[in-house]
Amino acid sequence: KEQTYIMVKPDGVMRSIVGEIIKRFETKGYKLVALKMAVPSREHLEKHYEDLNGRPFFAGLINYMASGPVVCMVWEGRNVVLEGRKMLGATKPSESALGTIRGDFCIDVGRNVCHGSDAVESAQKEIALWFPEGLCEYEKPTVSWVYEN
Ligand code: GTP
Ligand code: MG
Repeated sequence: KEQTYIMVKPDGVMRSIVGEIIKRFETKGYKLVALKMAVPSREHLEKHYEDLNGRPFFAGLINYMASGPVVCMVWEGRNVVLEGRKMLGATKPSESALGTIRGDFCIDVGRNVCHGSDAVESAQKEIALWFPEGLCEYEKPTVSWVYEN
């Protein structure tokens, strides 16, 4: 079963967009299998964003992400990594379509309210990094109302 790591960034928490982001994934039909709040350490964030180390915006990105609490989630469902990225919208809000989370709720790339894993492999790494305690296993009785097969 495909899973992705979705995180509401500190600006999303401060601006009260947490419920809206959860609502979009929930009402789409995805299954929530992990959820918590945390104020991440800089070391943890540097691991999460290790691929971007050396980019000119890296220090600002770590400062931004360490500036307050984040909401960490794992969502499960068919093609949820790619579809979740579509729901978030393009990295730069100026390029995000209206109707996407970033297109609807933000203006600046350095304050783009949410994170989503960019591939199945990075999703697995990010889930292990943010949820070493593991995920919540349960069956949803509505599964046949979301999927034909
Ligand atoms: P995430 O879901 O947060 O990983 O975003 P992404 O996958 O759409 O973009 P990427 O992984 O390339 O960049 C990670 C984050 O760094 C972005 O979401 C932005 O918050 C920030 N970022 C990326 N590019 C820029 C930039 O050019 N300037 C600034 N200030 N921030 C950037
Ligand atoms: Mg990324």
